[in-house]
Amino acid sequence: MEHLKSYIGEHKTRFINELFDLLRIPSVSADPAFSQDVLNTADAVKEALDKAGCDTVEICETPGYPIVYGEKIIDKNLPTVLVYGHYDVQPPDPLDLWESGPFEPVIKTTEEHPEGAIFARGACDDKGQMYMHVKALEFMTATNQLPCNVKFMIEGEEEVGSESLGWFVERNQEKLANDVILISDTGMIAKDVPSITTGLRGLSYVEVEVQGPNRDLHSGLYGGAVANPINILTKMIASLHDENNHITIPGFYDKVQDLSTDEREEMAKAPYSEDAYKKAIGINEVYGEKGYSTNERSSIRPTLDVNGIWGGYTGEGAKTVIASKAYAKISMRLVPNQDWKEITELFKNHFESIAPAGVTVKVKPHHGGNGYVTPIDGVEYQAASKAYEESFGVEPIPQRSGGSIPIVSLFEKELKSKTILMGFGLNSDAIHSPNEHFGVYNYIKGIETIPLFYKYFTEMS
Ligand code: BES
Ligand code: MN
Ligand code: MN
Repeated sequence: MEHLKSYIGEHKTRFINELFDLLRIPSVSADPAFSQDVLNTADAVKEALDKAGCDTVEICETPGYPIVYGEKIIDKNLPTVLVYGHYDVQPPDPLDLWESGPFEPVIKTTEEHPEGAIFARGACDDKGQMYMHVKALEFMTATNQLPCNVKFMIEGEEEVGSESLGWFVERNQEKLANDVILISDTGMIAKDVPSITTGLRGLSYVEVEVQGPNRDLHSGLYGGAVANPINILTKMIASLHDENNHITIPGFYDKVQDLSTDEREEMAKAPYSEDAYKKAIGINEVYGEKGYSTNERSSIRPTLDVNGIWGGYTGEGAKTVIASKAYAKISMRLVPNQDWKEITELFKNHFESIAPAGVTVKVKPHHGGNGYVTPIDGVEYQAASKAYEESFGVEPIPQRSGGSIPIVSLFEKELKSKTILMGFGLNSDAIHSPNEHFGVYNYIKGIETIPLFYKYFTEMS
């Protein structure tokens, strides 16, 4: 494409400054205290899409946070790319572990990003990656090189389960009609090892409550004679894995598709260093399901993890007490073919059935979604592969991710189209953690690779 590198080079500083402005708005969807900021972010995204060359941009109201929808239709006979992203971010907590303010973006260098990375909540997930698409559109319209139609759908509830997006998609199938859905909300293997995410895991997120006595009890007067909800809860949770780290919920694995030996061998070719993996997160040994590699455990296998557990006295000093109630939040990552509603039901039935007499157990399902796989012989993968090859100089590696974007399987069901996941973040970018960042190199490379995808996808369709 003409002027691709020169245009991006010329406008690089402005591209970074505009992203900084977006990152300064604390669009935390999980916390109602930030609701005005979330709404202001939607307005900022609308303005950015207007300026980048969309013909129409609207703020679409939903029962929750609005969806920003924009489009530029140049010819009804040409293919249409639908870009999806999210403008909401995770809460910044724990605040004291941030080395600079979560909503005060700055560029600092790291081992992985010696040329600099943008530090702020949402820098990588997903404001930075979403904004690459806005700037790619700007380039294509400013230089008259937009080869096809484009639609943007940017939501504000991804980090809390995308409920309103499901509502919106079901009601707007025609408006959202497209030939491919393009998303940058995942990662790549390394800066010199580009990869395309070919799969996402599904998710079932539940909260459990174990109730024992009707009030907190003196642990001397009553201890040993009543079921202690915290003891029972931890015992029940421990029983959910066996000695091989298989999940013990009856039926849990029934629909899991095992990969063929060929597919597993193909996967094992991706560059991976166990030492580097351990060092990066400060562990002395990896841990997981028997019979699978670390890469497999974190992508093609389903998991069950406690995300939080509480109850009883956790304040300063000691208080002798048997709590009335204990709680935990549990996530199950699912693989394609497992149905999240079915798994949620299996979990609920099993967890209730293993509760001993003396306690009552409640299981409250939160959100979820199914997994997704992008075939590598489809035109969307082939076009993306050519785009990376041109901008990075090497062919990208297909890689299934362990993360989830639950709405992607719903897109396939409702809009009947495939999704291509062109992520540019690194695992070390600390998404959802303190000091989240996004490499300046990755941001700029993303803006450079996206227009090439449009070009090849249009040519190959
Ligand atoms: N962008 C992430 C998902 C992701 C990150 C996928 C990196 C692959 C690689 C997304 O914003 C996210 O955090 N998803 C949640 C699920 C959601 C329902 C809260 C997740 O995976 O925990
Ligand atoms: Mn995301
Ligand atoms: Mn996220």
